[in-house]
This record gives sequence, C-alpha cells and structure tokens, in this order.
Amino acid sequence: MPATVIVGTQWGDEGKGKVTDVFAENVDLVARYQGGNNAGHTIVIGDERFALTLIPSGVLNPGVTPVIGNGTVVDPKVLLEEMAALAARDVDVSLVRLSANAHLIMPYHRKIDALQERFLGSGQIGTTKRGIGPAYTDKFSRHGIRVQDLFDPKIFRDKLEAALKEKNKTLVKLYNQLPMDAEAIAAEYLEYGRQLESHVTDTSLLLSEALEAGKEVLFEGAQGTLLDIDHGTYPFVTSSNPTAGGATIGSGVGPTAIDKVVGVTKAYISRVGSGPFPTELDDEIGETMIEVGGEYGTVTGRRRRCGWLDAVALRYASRINGLTEIALTKIDVLSEFETLKICVAYEADGERYDELPRQHRVLYNCEPVYEELPGWGIDISGAESFEDLPPAALDYIARVEELAGVPVSMVSVGPQRKATLTR
Ligand code: GDP
Ligand code: IMO
Ligand code: MG
Repeated sequence: MPATVIVGTQWGDEGKGKVTDVFAENVDLVARYQGGNNAGHTIVIGDERFALTLIPSGVLNPGVTPVIGNGTVVDPKVLLEEMAALAARDVDVSLVRLSANAHLIMPYHRKIDALQERFLGSGQIGTTKRGIGPAYTDKFSRHGIRVQDLFDPKIFRDKLEAALKEKNKTLVKLYNQLPMDAEAIAAEYLEYGRQLESHVTDTSLLLSEALEAGKEVLFEGAQGTLLDIDHGTYPFVTSSNPTAGGATIGSGVGPTAIDKVVGVTKAYISRVGSGPFPTELDDEIGETMIEVGGEYGTVTGRRRRCGWLDAVALRYASRINGLTEIALTKIDVLSEFETLKICVAYEADGERYDELPRQHRVLYNCEPVYEELPGWGIDISGAESFEDLPPAALDYIARVEELAGVPVSMVSVGPQRKATLTR
C-alpha cells in the first residue's frame, strides 16, 4: 500500500500538524523522519488544544501507531514528558514507537547550541536552542550516541566519556563554562532508557512490514523546505532534510513506497529566527497577519515574521519535493485584506528572477514582483465545502494552483479539525 509524505513548503509553521491530524484519520501509522523538539505542531480538536513537538501528530487519532524514525534527534527527557502530558489528557501513547537508530540529544548539545548562538552575536541563526544542530553535527562526525546505546550501559558510558573528553574542552577552554559530569549524565540517561525501552524497536522493519501488509503510512515532516540543510536558505536553516526525500532516509523505507507528496502551504508566509525573507512585511499588514493568524512560535513563543505568499519559493518547493498536491492553510486570515498580493518573481540590480537565484545573496536585497488579486472581505471560517467559498477566494486558490503547477486538494479555514475543505 502506498505511503504519503506531508511536507512544509515554506519556513515551517505552515499547519503541518493540523493537516497531518486530518489525514491521519484514514491511516495506520504516522512517522516523523527528521528534526526533533525544535518542531511545534498545534492541533485543535473541539475545546482542546495540543502542542506536539516530537510525537507525530497522528497520535490524537485512536489506533494510529506514531513512529519516531531513525532520522530524528531525540531528547529523551522531552519525549517522556510529552508522553506523560498526553497520557494525563487521556491520549493513548502505548503505541508510540522509537527507532533504535535515532540519535540522542545530550545535555552538552543543548548547552553548545546556546553558546554557539551567543558567540555568533548579530550573525546568529536564531535556533530553538534545543541542541538540534550540535546533535546532528555529532551524528555526521560519527561521535553521536544512539537510542540503542541506552540499553548497553558499558557502551553508553564509553561513548559518553569519549564525547565528554572533547565537549568539556570546548566548554571550558573555548566557552569558559564548567565541565559536565559523565556519571551524572549516564545515571540520568540510563534511567530514561529504562522508561523508554518498551517503545524502542527497528522502526524501518515495522514500517516496511506495515506497508507490505497493505496498511497506510503517513510521513510527517517537521520544519519546511526553505529550512532544509541542502535546499533551504543556508546557513539560516535547520540541520536535517525536511524535504520529501528525507522521508526515505529518515525512516528506512524505499522511495518506491511513496506515491503522494502533500505540500502544506500557508496562504501567506512566515519565518522564525534570522535569514533572508523577500516578501517580509514590516507594516500594518504584517502586523495583522501576526495578530489574526496567531503567529507566535509554538516552541519558543517568538513572534513570527510574516509576509505575502511567495510563489517563487512555492514553485521551488514543488520541484524539490515532487509535490502531487497542496494543502492550503490559514486562508481565513486573508479575509482581513481588501487586496491580496502574491510574489511571482524577484527583481534585483535590474534583473528579474523567476526561480530562486543561484546566488542566495540576491534574496537579501531583491524586490518582490507582486501580482494583485481582489480580497473577499467576508468571514470564511465557517465554510464547510469549496462551494461555500466566495468567488474571489476560489480565484485565489486557482491562481495558487497555476503558479505552483500543482492542484490544491485541501483548504483549511481555521485551526479546528473540522475547519477543513477537501475535494
Ligand atoms: P506546523 O509547525 O506546520 O504544524 O504549524 P504550527 O502548529 O506551528 O502553526 C500553525 C498555527 O496555525 C497553529 O496555531 C494552528 O492551530 C493554526 N492553524 C492551522 N491551520 C489553520 C487555519 O486554516 N486557519 C487558522 N486561522 N489557523 C490555523
Ligand atoms: P515546525 O515543525 C519554524 C528554525 C529556527 C531557526 C532555524 C534553526 O513547527 O514547522 P534549529 O533549532 O532547528 O537548529 O533552528 O530553524 N526552526 C523552525 N522554524 N518552525 C519550525 O518547526 C522550526 N524548527 C526550527 O527558528 O531559524
Ligand atoms: Mg510549528
């Protein structure tokens, strides 16, 4: 049975959590394939609001198996707290499965993340300071410690001591900090291991067997295409591959299993942290997007920077991810504006760019070329089907489809599960 990937087409916070939750109604397993607790996915069901960070958004659908794949980085304390918080709200977390190959976020990763940012000063990335970058750095330099190491205390201690030899030099000599104690960390982490053990498994095998048995699998990306370490606005990116290709590497399922790639696209665009942002609005319109759209970070509470939809970036995301369809979210927020704008190209130094420029420095000082569309000026948050949408909203959706070259199969008109229109 085929698998579907849900991927953000912007700089994150497109509404992937909500869209995944809606899709998860009809699937058996939902797997996260990259990132860690830098992600914040908000889901609203009735009067209840859930903010998930590491556990896949499918967890709120009874019977769905939430899988945390090998491509993720896992802070075990955060995972245990998240499971406990969900269980306290009567959400069944017994099915959560964690890859034995996933890498652990260690206390020194969090510390070094914060210190590196401080030292970068005005050049800082604006990370979530959750230790994501340093954990992936250790993974790729082959100094990482994996979930499976928690179940071999001798191996765990050996790896930790080897890591701390280097980390403590960095902490003490470079950053003027106190060294960290191996035994205290080992005691803490081995205890997390005991609490997590029943959830740990070979998740690649689990997913492959499920697909073989005809079950439906959904891959839930964190972050977004423009935050991808390879394809994003480097270095203002995260340290993994949120793009659709990351789903196979980060889950251990071959690309032939995937036949649908849904690009979650906010009807405008936002970014948290530093980096270029051609359509950023530093005016009343941007302010309205923040306030009406509730654009405050789920993880860090930071105000998100907002601007008009960038169709150059959307077309790019469509290509990089091989999108088969788009889920267009937060279109209700656009009801606020008389006239809507979509960026269709960039201009810099007399040159027009219809694609993302090869030299990313252009992104810092280009002018967006906007196309204007009429707004609809009425509240659409109560719409129950495409037929309920005013003609101007349907025109806006049709223009997004044209510019992206991909059909819009789902439109979201509010945070609620039921505020979703499909065709
Ligand atoms: P994610 O990281 O991509 O899962 O997105 P976040 O959850 O961080 O941010 C999206 C925010 O918008 C959340 O607060 C959602 O509850 C909310 N949201 C999602 N879809 C819609 C929508 O269609 N309309 C409105 N007004 N809010 C939405
Ligand atoms: P979701 O899944 C928005 C941003 C950070 C920072 C950069 C690197 O909710 O869409 P990191 O801590 O990953 O090293 O930070 O990436 N960032 C996100 N921005 N949504 C996210 O996740 C993000 N995860 C990381 O703000 O600019
Ligand atoms: Mg988010």
